[in-house]
Amino acid sequence: MKEHNGKMVTILAIESSCDETAVAILRDPVGDGERVEVLCSEISSQIEIHREYGGVVPELASRNHSLALLPLVKTALGNAGVSISDVDGFCATGGPGLASSLLVGHTAAKGMAVAVSGGRPFISVNHMEGHLLSPFIMRENGVEPNIALVVSGGHTMIIENRGFGEYELIGKTLDDAAGEAFDKVAKMLQLPYPGGPEIEKCAEGGDVKAYKFPRSMLKKPHFDFSFSGLKTAVLYTLSELDTVEGKPRERDLPDLCASFQKAVIDVLVAKTMRAVRERGLSKLSLSGGVSCNKALRAAFGEACERAGVELLICSPHLSTDNAAMIGYVGLQKLIRGEFSDLSCDVNPNMPLNAMKMRK
Ligand code: KG4
Ligand code: ZN
Repeated sequence: MKEHNGKMVTILAIESSCDETAVAILRDPVGDGERVEVLCSEISSQIEIHREYGGVVPELASRNHSLALLPLVKTALGNAGVSISDVDGFCATGGPGLASSLLVGHTAAKGMAVAVSGGRPFISVNHMEGHLLSPFIMRENGVEPNIALVVSGGHTMIIENRGFGEYELIGKTLDDAAGEAFDKVAKMLQLPYPGGPEIEKCAEGGDVKAYKFPRSMLKKPHFDFSFSGLKTAVLYTLSELDTVEGKPRERDLPDLCASFQKAVIDVLVAKTMRAVRERGLSKLSLSGGVSCNKALRAAFGEACERAGVELLICSPHLSTDNAAMIGYVGLQKLIRGEFSDLSCDVNPNMPLNAMKMRK
């Protein structure tokens, strides 16, 4: 039931699960959840702060969220031209993520929901549901059935999405997530954090066939992934190369990165396309930070064209962590009257069944 049908609905969303503080304001002019306008999507990145440590330091992340968040809310309201009293609901990421970081955004959103005159609903949003639905934010028909590949720093999942709230997890990584593999291999190659974009840059002009890296579980009938063997294979190759204090020579980097990147992409494309075929769907969506990778996008573009499948991808700024994707889920829940209790807690390991998953 869509409680707001026929009425304009505005939501303010906060994302603070990891190292990006983000605030977005979204509006649905008619309250049916189909054509949603992103009035603003602001991000204050902490990447520079964590870079010198080679990864996210949780205590630094939460402190910096609390410094950045409320000024960012003010900026967002100003840029959207919205007064806080015009906001119909407040939502924030409740998990998965770093507990102390999640708490900053979650608590701020609850506070605003209570403080606005008359009170407003608060909605706790699953970060992965945000990624999953991000390819629909800029479309006009709401959430349509599709096979989704969600590839982020912490997750790699193939999901059959039958519509909002009706998700079936059909495959996942059994060890490292794809983004994690990019980040760990980048660390081995002594490239800066975060590793994914650095590997992509270094892979340009490299020979994808220079090194024979494994394509794990490609022949298995299930849809699960494993990337830890690939990571070990890169480490082994590196130990046999001529390095300077463990760092490969500039001349070897492009081939190493291109061969590694291709091994990840081959497995992701093969398994996801098989899921599309077996489930008989005509749409495939790609989301999560790794879906920014241009070689990955191109490989899926070609595979989908060959198979006559429509590929749904959002722009890179909606693929990595952002608050618009949290607002999109929050808005869908708001118009359906699915509110969270003000006493609800964050959950760093928010389980997939919080997305009504079945497997
Ligand atoms: O979705 P996301 O922003 O945050 C999480 O929820 O984890 O994903 C971050 C991950 C990191 O592992 C990062 O290295 C990876 O996405 N990533 C990329 C690219 N851009 C970000 N991986 C490969 N190529 C990229 N261009
Ligand atoms: Zn994410």
